Amino acid sequence: MPSLARPFPESFLFGAATAAFQVEGAAHEDGRRDSIWDAFCRVPGAVINGDDGEVACDQYHLYRDDVALMKRMGLQTYRFSTSWSRVRPDGGPVNPAGVDYYSRLVDELLGAGILPWLTLYHWDLPQALQDGGGWTVRDTAERFTEYALDMHEALGDRVKVWTTLNEPWCSSFLSYTAGIHAPGHTSVAEGMLASHHLLLGHGQAVRELRARDSSLELGITLNLTVADAVDPTNEADAAAAAKIDGRFNRWFLDPVFRGSYPADVLADIRAADPAAADAFDAAVQPGDLDVISTRLDALGVNYYHGELVGAQPPAQPARSGDAPTDREVASPFPAADGVYWHDRGLPQTSMFWDVQPEGLTRLLNRVWDEYAQPAGTVLYVTENGAAYDDVPTTEDGGVRVHDAERVDFVRAHLGAVLDAIEDGVDVRGYFYWSLLDNFEWAWGYEKRFGIVRVDYDTQERAVKDSGREYGRIIAARTLDA
Ligand code: NOJ
Repeated sequence: MPSLARPFPESFLFGAATAAFQVEGAAHEDGRRDSIWDAFCRVPGAVINGDDGEVACDQYHLYRDDVALMKRMGLQTYRFSTSWSRVRPDGGPVNPAGVDYYSRLVDELLGAGILPWLTLYHWDLPQALQDGGGWTVRDTAERFTEYALDMHEALGDRVKVWTTLNEPWCSSFLSYTAGIHAPGHTSVAEGMLASHHLLLGHGQAVRELRARDSSLELGITLNLTVADAVDPTNEADAAAAAKIDGRFNRWFLDPVFRGSYPADVLADIRAADPAAADAFDAAVQPGDLDVISTRLDALGVNYYHGELVGAQPPAQPARSGDAPTDREVASPFPAADGVYWHDRGLPQTSMFWDVQPEGLTRLLNRVWDEYAQPAGTVLYVTENGAAYDDVPTTEDGGVRVHDAERVDFVRAHLGAVLDAIEDGVDVRGYFYWSLLDNFEWAWGYEKRFGIVRVDYDTQERAVKDSGREYGRIIAARTLDA
């Protein structure tokens, strides 16, 4: 009988991810100052339960324990981000105590045989820079490049993999247009400007880092999706799906890989909000797109679920819990522009996100064929994961979480990655989001994505069944049937 075991390529990397603001805590220790998220958490109603990042998972103090835990789980790499507000509080001079934390974290990881995977910007802009206009002003891209070089100065001898930005779609449109992420603004023009300056900072940082050390592996992480038309044979539905593809995928992929913004999206913006389009046109200076399209070694793909859309509203509204989904509120267009979300009827996580592993296979194939392969860039899944309402139990004196749904989720998505590899896509690794339950932005601590449970009262960690299963898969380097 043929074996049903599916091996991963020998060099495939298995990891888990977190981000500074979501896990570190120690918000005002050793010289760290406010980021936009510290300030946003103080706005009444901005974050569920008034949660904040003051303590989070306290990784700032517990990083040694967390690294030891990662080692026990067999993780090969840890994707973390550095906090700009710790390294250059207020965006100003370098704070040696802040830099030193990351130096200690990196040494601890290397000592445990775990590859440090560093992200420079996971949404926590120093508040002082926001006071000067934040990502809506060009100067922030310059400040970002300086900060990237500081980090390289401190860690470049030990950190070889660098990601500039995590999900710039969120740090532009969720933040400056939809208002549901810090700094909570609601302006189409600001979202457009932010996206351009974020990408400019990315391109500049890649150029400068590569000039300093050509052996670095440099990349960006984008949140990408598969957008399907509810009726693909219907022209209006297909046009709605193309709009979503433009807003979420091509708005970032095209400038980064092709040096141009998608003309159809630009035309839509001009029709809906001419002043925003004018502001955007004025911000894009000659040469910017050359910088933004500087060649990358790696593209990080963050995938959670796809979109099913049509030109008409569904008979039954799509399930979305007690809030409109991010996707519905965060378009850089006025809401009623003829795109409606439909329900695929799939199982959903506690975020009301569809569990749709085949979407990951399709997405990887598409991004590889159309963007990465022609550019000589390899792919990593830098985030994929699920929140569930975990129920901890006490067994044999220890905490256990029997998160069967998350076990299935991880297995199904690793299978989807293997499917893409079999299709010929060069996917080099997978990071589960997240190592730990942590601060889920506007959802506070209510949503738990971890393969490790965090008890926020005691800071105790307990590896969930999903973490055990992931560890087993990593040890076997095989997905069994
Ligand atoms: C994307 C983000 O990068 C991460 O910060 C967030 O917690 C997860 N997705 C889950 O929403």
